[in-house]
Amino acid sequence: MSAVRRFATIPGPRPLPLLGNSWRFAIGKKPWQTRSLDITLWNLRALAGADGAAKVAKLFGHPDLVFSFCAEETAKVYRREDSMPYRAVAPCLKHYKQELRKDFFGNEPGLIGVHGMPWSKFRSKVSKALVAPEAAKAAIPSLDEVAIDFIDRIEKIIDYNREMPKDFLTELYKWALESVGAWAMGTRLGCLSEKDDEAKEIIKNIHGFFHSVPELELSAPLWRLYSTPAYKTYVDALDSFTKLCLKRLTDKGVCAKIAKISGEKVATILALDLLLVGVDTTAAAAASSMYLLAKNSRAQRKLQDELDKNLPVGRPLTSKDLEQLTYLRACIKEALRIKPVILGNGRCIQSDAIISGYEVPKGSHIVFPHYIMSNEERYFPNPHDYVPERWLREKDNRNVDMSSEFRTNDMQSICEHAKAVLISEKQREIGIHPFASLPFGFGRRMCIGKRFAEAELQLLLAKVFHRYDVSWRYGELTYSVTPTYVPNEPLQFTMKMRRKNK
Ligand code: HEM
Repeated sequence: MSAVRRFATIPGPRPLPLLGNSWRFAIGKKPWQTRSLDITLWNLRALAGADGAAKVAKLFGHPDLVFSFCAEETAKVYRREDSMPYRAVAPCLKHYKQELRKDFFGNEPGLIGVHGMPWSKFRSKVSKALVAPEAAKAAIPSLDEVAIDFIDRIEKIIDYNREMPKDFLTELYKWALESVGAWAMGTRLGCLSEKDDEAKEIIKNIHGFFHSVPELELSAPLWRLYSTPAYKTYVDALDSFTKLCLKRLTDKGVCAKIAKISGEKVATILALDLLLVGVDTTAAAAASSMYLLAKNSRAQRKLQDELDKNLPVGRPLTSKDLEQLTYLRACIKEALRIKPVILGNGRCIQSDAIISGYEVPKGSHIVFPHYIMSNEERYFPNPHDYVPERWLREKDNRNVDMSSEFRTNDMQSICEHAKAVLISEKQREIGIHPFASLPFGFGRRMCIGKRFAEAELQLLLAKVFHRYDVSWRYGELTYSVTPTYVPNEPLQFTMKMRRKNK
């Protein structure tokens, strides 16, 4: 106990009297920009040391943030969490649901930005229908349809060089939105067609929402004093999503099941939450998975061999087909390790704790930046190398066809293969710490859409890489936090057709 250090001694940027640390984000000089939180996190990691902690105290409207960069400490905090885990307060969402539109939400505030008993009650009402493996399996036919439409869309938007347009990320947003509409609301929103004005409006609002959230959440909360432009965009977007959910809920899809048991209001509020967090996340994951595979022809060839062997011809894909795609699942895990969609997760601790050797008082918000941990040598040897094999058990690794790796007998392929073998062996020696890469969170509050997101991604990537050789002709992409972690530069993938069937 004598080694336990006081909370005040946790290293971190010094807050100014009255202005705290919020001024840093208000001025927005690097690394204190909401868009470059990845750099901020690396700086805090340097301050904390390997097993220590760092702190950003006195941010307006937020509890003190304590950053722990150790997987063991992450496990300790998650495992001691009670039945009502508190995630970071999202003041602007809380304001929207519980103040501005209280008349509509009343005592059914949903999941996002909600805590304590109201969250627990709501989660219990909707959990089974969303979390059960059968729920994701039942959604596969509708997700498959959307993925097929997306492949058709690729052929419409591709240019004469077989390159994707500069706004391909927007196309991925449309695919993700169409997918959520199909499985959650049982409706086709029409985002993948050219003409649908409503779809364009939804996409405009999605962008408005995502771009305003970081500003409202992390800069000085001027929106509490007057309607800032970001605040107006934010409220307009949420109002239009609510209207959309009210109008487009059908008697099919997951929310229809909820409506039967808990009523239409609960179903509408759930649909709104799913739209809010289920679009940019999967779009960002798809973008990073495609990019990393496009840059890594060895892994791409191996994936394509798996797809050629297992994808059905002349009939729709089933959950059984997806179960065979071990290497595809490893490709997605590896992409979410290197470029997690959300850089960190967190919990507001409900009782005093000792974290990374420091006394931390109840009410502090502990952040686990898994983006840092999952890119550290101590947890993942050669962390910047994309090696899906590190996620495969030895048995699965043997089952994955290796022939593709030597299809081209050139020296480069042989070296890439040898390097991947070496890295996966090193990884197997140290094992994978279960808390070092947690892209979907953990425990009772973990991502409720995880299974759907995985099924969506598997279907999309299976279809894309089965049909196309995807390559990347440009420099290294840079990334920003928006608040999902997405590439800054245009995603102009080159897509060469390798087979005609979808
Ligand atoms: C690759 C895609 C996705 C990633 C990486 C992701 C990640 C996350 C993370 C890290 C959390 C916080 C978990 C925690 O606090 O322990 C979360 C929560 C949540 N996610 Fe996802 N998510 C993804 C896709 C989706 C999709 C497709 C949906 C639904 C359409 C969804 C719905 C939710 C909801 C409703 C919550 C809040 C759960 C609660 O507080 O009870 N997510 N997600």
